[in-house]
Amino acid sequence: MNVGIDGLEVWTGKLKLDLPGTFAPAKGEDPGKYTKGLGLYTSSLPDAYEDIVTMAANASKRLLERKEIDPRDIGRIDVATESAFDNSKPVSTYVAGCLDQVFDGEFRHANKGERKFACVSGTQALDDAYNWIQAGRSRGRAALVVATDTALYARDDPGEATQGAGAVAMLVDEDPDLVSLSEAQGIGSVDETDFLKPNQQFPSVDGKRSMQVYLARMREALQDFARNGGDTHPDTFDLVPFHTPFPGMVQKAAALGFRHCVRNTEVETQLEDEIGRQPRRNEFDNRDNYFEAIKSYTKDLRETDTYQGWYARTVEPTLDISREVGNWYTGSVHVARTAGMKAALESDRDLVGSSLLVASYGSGAQAEIHAETVQPGWREEIRQLNIYDQLDSRYSLSFEEYEAIHDVHNHDESTDLEPFTTPTDEFVFDGWGRMGERKYTHVE
Ligand code: CAA
Repeated sequence: MNVGIDGLEVWTGKLKLDLPGTFAPAKGEDPGKYTKGLGLYTSSLPDAYEDIVTMAANASKRLLERKEIDPRDIGRIDVATESAFDNSKPVSTYVAGCLDQVFDGEFRHANKGERKFACVSGTQALDDAYNWIQAGRSRGRAALVVATDTALYARDDPGEATQGAGAVAMLVDEDPDLVSLSEAQGIGSVDETDFLKPNQQFPSVDGKRSMQVYLARMREALQDFARNGGDTHPDTFDLVPFHTPFPGMVQKAAALGFRHCVRNTEVETQLEDEIGRQPRRNEFDNRDNYFEAIKSYTKDLRETDTYQGWYARTVEPTLDISREVGNWYTGSVHVARTAGMKAALESDRDLVGSSLLVASYGSGAQAEIHAETVQPGWREEIRQLNIYDQLDSRYSLSFEEYEAIHDVHNHDESTDLEPFTTPTDEFVFDGWGRMGERKYTHVE
């Protein structure tokens, strides 16, 4: 059975914070830390009437309308998020409540849930949808999978530099138009305490450690993927979308991944004259010397034309949107896939039948790697996305406005603020109900 993503829509928060131009000077930092170090230019942030539900519902509405889906043809609605505001009622019920306001028909028989494992849960929700269809329980219906987050950090936390807000809605069904998913999968998963939110809104983060954990779990997932029959030769893949907390993280992960994938291949042999053979653990009497040698080899590898050509073709295009929006947590790897395919469309690359290696990650910590095959309908699906128009029309915040909007979204503050933008034909947050529930309405 051919099962995968039939279509997707991306919805960004309506505000933007210019990192080198506005944030860095206010923090007394060099703008180069953002543009060159982290690889970030602007963050997307939610306006006063936006949150994880409005962004998820707006992306979903657009997707279902465009694909002309009748609500009765949706058998599952799964929302992946690490920004949920309710420990019992899942975000998917709020999203379905919004959609019920505008669709003719209802989502009464769709199984709804919420997926949690930090940023990797967007991919886990895709997995659940794939398994549900493969198990024969969908009865021809599709699953709506939405990854939505307001990735905000406490003020003055180092993570503040990587904030973002947005949603990606994906329709999963048989004979998909965009990409098909496959059975081979690799997992690297260990109990880690690097990034967590123990019943608190903003994360507790050990930033430097989180980066080490990201790399370690990715390597394990890659090994597991290869053991399970996955092809890891770098020439197999046309695009390699990574979970992208910030592009600088992906630059590190890509070099390690490439080094791992070319070991014992003709690519390693071809590079031998230029940079030598990769160090092997059994050639060193202690781990520190081995790590030093591997670090130096990786540095040299990154300078080679072979690596740079591979990176420019398969990874660099996947960062085009992340650079302008920051981290969307659960949506981040799906933004990377979208950006890569959008860049391929614009440079007239023919992707039909080609493979994507998708590398997802969630703190806490788990990496997941799987392959996808691009379907004949991909061009039409990607062509209609308006994400770059959305990015261009964001309102650019001054630093004082940024401080005020951060307070608006801080659950410990009660700040009223006039929105910076005017919503049109979309769902908005509309105050509180009698049981403390958040309420939403659709404005024309
Ligand atoms: N010019 C060029 N480069 C500069 C520079 C300048 N003027 N100033 C600094 N840099 C470089 C630094 O050298 C560094 O690059 P390297 O890592 O290659 O050395 C980079 O810019 C960042 O600078 P710092 O390390 O000084 O930045 P920081 O200490 O303020 O924190 C961070 C960076 C740890 C990533 C922090 O933003 C953070 O905690 N982020 C949240 C956690 C996170 O995103 N972790 C990623 C892995 S976990 C994950 O992926 C899950 C998730 O989504 C959260």
